[in-house]
Amino acid sequence: MAATHISEVVLESSNGRRTMPVLGFGTASNNLQREVFIEAVLEAIKLGYRHFDTASLYGSEQSLGVAIAQALKLGLVASRDKLFITSKLWSNDAHPDLVLPALKKSLQNLELDYLDLYLIHWPISATPGKLSHFLEEKDQMPMDFKGVWAAMEEAQRLGLTKSIGISNFSTKKTQNLLSFATIPPSVNQVEMSPFWQQKKLREFCKANGIVVTAFSPLGAIGTSWGTNYVLESKVLNEIAKARGKTVAQVCIRWVYQVGATLAVKSYNKERLKQNVQVFDWELTEEDLEKINQIPQRRMISREEELVTATGPYKSLDELWDGEY
Ligand code: A2P
Repeated sequence: MAATHISEVVLESSNGRRTMPVLGFGTASNNLQREVFIEAVLEAIKLGYRHFDTASLYGSEQSLGVAIAQALKLGLVASRDKLFITSKLWSNDAHPDLVLPALKKSLQNLELDYLDLYLIHWPISATPGKLSHFLEEKDQMPMDFKGVWAAMEEAQRLGLTKSIGISNFSTKKTQNLLSFATIPPSVNQVEMSPFWQQKKLREFCKANGIVVTAFSPLGAIGTSWGTNYVLESKVLNEIAKARGKTVAQVCIRWVYQVGATLAVKSYNKERLKQNVQVFDWELTEEDLEKINQIPQRRMISREEELVTATGPYKSLDELWDGEY
């Protein structure tokens, strides 16, 4: 199969006009052997994927770095600037003076001089000095949003990243950030699938020039926090059958057609191929309306962990500001 050209969106607040491929390769679950992971990244590049999404938390930065170096050496991509690499600031480093060191550590892991996009991973800080996947209640603390964002802006000004953004920010938290940002976030990456459509957030982001990126667009099936109700949905299966596509393709196409971007995770060659074949067909207005009617339910990911008696979020309402 010839490489697919994946369309791109403009990131308005980027340091220099920069575009982002709408479809990215997610690396959130990384319990694979390094060789298998690298092979999947190389395969993805051959298929046309150019956007790779990682985070210091995922533990995938180093393997991704090795894969990128190999892809360049093999000539699968002409140069570094043909790739778009996203990483994320984890809560233990979400303190004003720790942002630049954390970003530099990510660059070192990735063997890169700059990132294309650096995101605040979650709107919560934690005790500095450790990288803990699970944020214990005693380690949680409110984020100094102004201080952390100023350091993110500094990172962009210094050229360590071309663009900056946020992840898991509700409309209200995004609005608050915009009230003091001198460089607005380019992207807000959030859970989004036909089962959690993020209509309010998408409208707000569109009005403010922020690109929404969907994570877990297939419901993150196969992970500890994932769910099968997306891929097993009756409505989505009917639409897929009528279009001669798979449910995964319907989900990916839906994200694209409603104007968002996405990171989808697969390390399987056939599914990688399938997931990129979404640009030469369309969902009809009727399909979109059926999807629009799907009752909404958010996945339970970090909610139980982040809603605590003594941490910054004492209820789901405080974490998501009513958007749940
Ligand atoms: P695999 O890596 O074996 O392909 P999400 O992107 O929502 O987090 O979902 C990722 C999960 O969905 C992974 O378990 C991945 O498994 C699976 N997946 C990815 N693409 C497809 C597809 N086209 N069909 C079915 N499952 C898929």
